[in-house]
Amino acid sequence: MAETIDNVNNFDTVALDDDNNALLLVDQTRLPHETVILALTSQREVWEAIRQLRVRGAPAIGVAAAIGLYLAARAIRADTFDGFYREFASAKAYLASARPTAVNLFWALDRMEEVALRHRDKPIPEIIALLRAQTEAIRDEDIQACRRIGEFGLSLLRDKDGLLTVCNAGQLAAVRYGTALAPIYLGLERGMRFRVYACETRPLLQGARLTAFELKQAGVDTTLICDNMVSYVMKNGLVQAVLAGCDRLAANGDACNKIGTSGVAILASYYRIPFYVCAPTSSIDPHTPTGAGIPIEQRPAGEVTDMWYARPMAPTGIHVLNPAFDVTDHSLITAIITDCGILRPPYAFGE
Ligand code: MRU
Repeated sequence: MAETIDNVNNFDTVALDDDNNALLLVDQTRLPHETVILALTSQREVWEAIRQLRVRGAPAIGVAAAIGLYLAARAIRADTFDGFYREFASAKAYLASARPTAVNLFWALDRMEEVALRHRDKPIPEIIALLRAQTEAIRDEDIQACRRIGEFGLSLLRDKDGLLTVCNAGQLAAVRYGTALAPIYLGLERGMRFRVYACETRPLLQGARLTAFELKQAGVDTTLICDNMVSYVMKNGLVQAVLAGCDRLAANGDACNKIGTSGVAILASYYRIPFYVCAPTSSIDPHTPTGAGIPIEQRPAGEVTDMWYARPMAPTGIHVLNPAFDVTDHSLITAIITDCGILRPPYAFGE
């Protein structure tokens, strides 16, 4: 089932439709041309939506997976907790296999599992009600965390600053506000006017299709640039700060985000422009000591050679490398803006 809406900023990116047993999400593969809300009811559909980036961005993936697992739990027919848990654990493992890099996916699924295990002595309908409450908590905490990141981030910016961002870490990557774009939205609410440079973000164009789209709908002064124009805008004094999102923060502060982010950080360091990583605490992975331990998703070659082109734009059979993420070394990060405050080096997120 699908429904269309006018303004993406007026709709939560991910939501539960309890009456219809459905996960509602904005299909991001159809933006910017069509704003379509999908209603997903099966685990397979939820897995596919995460895998194909219909829902994407670390916080949004976490909330979607939690709701997907709740819907799976609701469909389990078992008389004992052990029977229930066997199917629940298999649904959890399936959803966790959709994408490997954003830690929020595993964080949200672990929170759901922890609720089920903690209440194993209760009747199964009660456990299911508690799982539903947990999906609401995860969603509400995400909205609040993004708002707090916005407040903290805004305190580092000045009216009319030029801000550069990579990929999409906005409303569409979370439930509301986003992470890296939250300070921009909060600034807008208070009458501040930023000039935003959105990197188009090859190969899937999250910057062009999503960031440029949602910022323009919100009325933010937005300029789209190709990924290879970052040095140009920095050298010409157009950018006063970089705001980047994050898919996983290692214990030493190494930050994994969309491919290309580390190059932007190196350029920002060269031009002495502050490079801020915006991350909710759900993106912190205290079990991974450094960025070297973060699994990097490798995606199909066709995204580089064929996608968006009327015909393939590379010789048939050419070798293609398509890592979806890279790691920005902690030494390049001026500050990490979390929902708990602004952190400065040295970073230490270990257990
Ligand atoms: O592959 P994507 O589009 O899911 O990658 C998303 C990003 O890299 C975002 O910057 C990141 O998830 C931060 S979202 C608030």
